[in-house]
Amino acid sequence: MTPSAAAAKDADDRLATLAAARYRNTQKLTGDWNETLDTLLSHRSVRGYLPKPVPESVLQLAIAAAQSAPSSSNLQAWSVVAVEDEARRNRLNAVAGVQRQITQAPLLLVWLADLSRPRKIATEQGATAEGLDFVESFLLGVIDAALAAQNAVVALESYGLGSCYIGALRNDPETVARELELPDGVFPVFGLTVGYPDPAAPADVKPRLPQTTILHRERYDTQLRSDDIRDYNTALRSFQAEQSMPRIDWTEQVKNRIGTVESLKGRHVLGAVARKLGFKLR
Ligand SMILES: Cc1cc2nc3c(=O)[nH]c(=O)nc-3n(C[C@H](O)[C@H](O)[C@H](O)COP(=O)(O)O)c2cc1C
Repeated sequence: MTPSAAAAKDADDRLATLAAARYRNTQKLTGDWNETLDTLLSHRSVRGYLPKPVPESVLQLAIAAAQSAPSSSNLQAWSVVAVEDEARRNRLNAVAGVQRQITQAPLLLVWLADLSRPRKIATEQGATAEGLDFVESFLLGVIDAALAAQNAVVALESYGLGSCYIGALRNDPETVARELELPDGVFPVFGLTVGYPDPAAPADVKPRLPQTTILHRERYDTQLRSDDIRDYNTALRSFQAEQSMPRIDWTEQVKNRIGTVESLKGRHVLGAVARKLGFKLR
């Protein structure tokens, strides 16, 4: 085999390995392999960390990656608070229902939809900034924050660090806002634990739904393929068994997560809470 043929075969093998881990079905991925795609397809949330600080240089690289994400009209309507202080992390952990990774991770990044900065900039120029009073602007800030955070996640993973989103901070955004001294018009969208993964607590790639369930062609197909869903339940159960996690069908997890108002763990009042935090949501 020529060196280029060998390299192509290695790339094909790697894509096949990545596809098998991500889908655990017959999904094939063909085409060119590259490191960016490898990092993306290898993602897994990390919930066990070594007691090793995140270097300032890595934090700055991650924030540069976050700021490199697209931003609606380049408003850059997001901010992030880096929390290292243990006492503060523990207080925020109480909001999140006490998750071990928040105590363990040396760094918690709290990602914010930030309409306070554009409001200041517009009002200083004599505008009412009324455009910020609509659901659209709240969404814009949340989308900007999410895109930025995910770029940081990928950058951190490319450096061998791990992370885990903490949506549970939305159990009580008012307490988070008080703790971080957020001004009016700033909403904590989620936290992100960051650190070096503990090799003693390995996390594996969690399988995802088949592409046939997610990818619609030309128009939305309302038919849910029961075979695909059944196979996904099976794939996720084998993942749970390998990870020594409680075994539960994904379909049941979906029902449990959104089945009732109670299952939202207090987050059903977020509209009212966002209004208290300075968003009019008209
Ligand atoms: C917005 C958001 C909020 C999340 N909140 C939590 C959380 O509070 N606690 C947690 O352990 N994982 C949380 N996760 C992680 C998801 O559970 C995880 O991404 C999902 O199970 C898929 O697993 P993977 O990231 O390892 O592929 C959150 C993920 C997202 C995107």
